[in-house]
Amino acid sequence: MKVRVDSDKCQGHTLCAMEAPALFKLSDFDGHSTVISEHVPPELERAARDAAATCPEQAIVISD
Ligand code: F3S
Repeated sequence: MKVRVDSDKCQGHTLCAMEAPALFKLSDFDGHSTVISEHVPPELERAARDAAATCPEQAIVISD
């Protein structure tokens, strides 16, 4: 599984990093999110899906 943040959609709601701090980091400047690594280890796949579901902007993109 891979995960990325669509920077055009991210508005800095920060929920993704609260849901999955091992996967996302937030900018100190504007709170926008980026992935720590696009490759999601199996034990974090659930967290990645939960983070995607919690983002109000649907900015988190998951692919196989
Ligand atoms: Fe951005 Fe959504 Fe996270 S708006 S900071 S990707 S919760």
